[in-house]
Amino acid sequence: MSSFDKSPRLLSGLCCGVMLASMSLVVAAEQSGHYGYGEPPTEEQIAAWDIDVRPDGMGLPEGSGSVDEGMGVYETYCASCHGAFGEGMGRYPKLSGGEGSLDQDRPEKTVGSYWPYASTLWDYIHRAMPFFAPQSLTDDQVYAVTAYVLNLNYIVEGDFVANRETLPEVVMPNHDGFIWEDPRPVVDNDRCMKDCKEEVTVSDSAEGKNLTPSTTGPLDEGITE
Ligand code: HEC
Repeated sequence: MSSFDKSPRLLSGLCCGVMLASMSLVVAAEQSGHYGYGEPPTEEQIAAWDIDVRPDGMGLPEGSGSVDEGMGVYETYCASCHGAFGEGMGRYPKLSGGEGSLDQDRPEKTVGSYWPYASTLWDYIHRAMPFFAPQSLTDDQVYAVTAYVLNLNYIVEGDFVANRETLPEVVMPNHDGFIWEDPRPVVDNDRCMKDCKEEVTVSDSAEGKNLTPSTTGPLDEGITE
């Protein structure tokens, strides 16, 4: 029994020691302007995360790929799910077709019917496809297969070569289907900003009114077990 009595004290002694030690670490860390743990990421680690490509093409790397080259990439890595012509296999998404269907009962959102930018298509394929091995394609393969998917949708000609200059120039069919500026008027809110009441008092409250159902509240009246 006595060992049980002592163990909490021993434990709390240990805890205090650990706490003191970590507190002094924190103090030291704060003094030096850091938190005292972790390590600065390397350039390489940052580059691995920093892969986003913006609509204006910012972030697109060097390299290029043609529609012809893209056909091979597509057949090897994409067609099994998305179909030879982007028509989709089983429940995997279609990448082509669907033009004019967005306001129908069964809209088909595809690269051709929906996507506003070609540059972000590059981003999506680069970061997420092929589904079973994301980020396994080279930049040139992504350029090529992006060109091919655009060509499947008749958005670019067969001799198109995708690169960081040409992709942002591609005008997507549904670009203007998006609303780029919020058309709603700016409305003043009616929060009191001047001549406001000095003091606000609570004149009523829900307390004690039994508004919330509970096992003993009015809603249970009449229920017998
Ligand atoms: C194993 C099946 C599979 C393979 C292979 C595959 N994808 Fe996909 N793809 C998917 C699935 C599933 C989604 C939907 C993912 C989601 O919505 O989160 C998708 C979504 C997409 C989309 C977005 C469709 C949209 O309009 O939202 C594109 C573009 C795309 N894939 C391109 C490709 C390309 C290019 C390749 C080949 C490099 C490829 N995919 C290979 C399964 C696959």
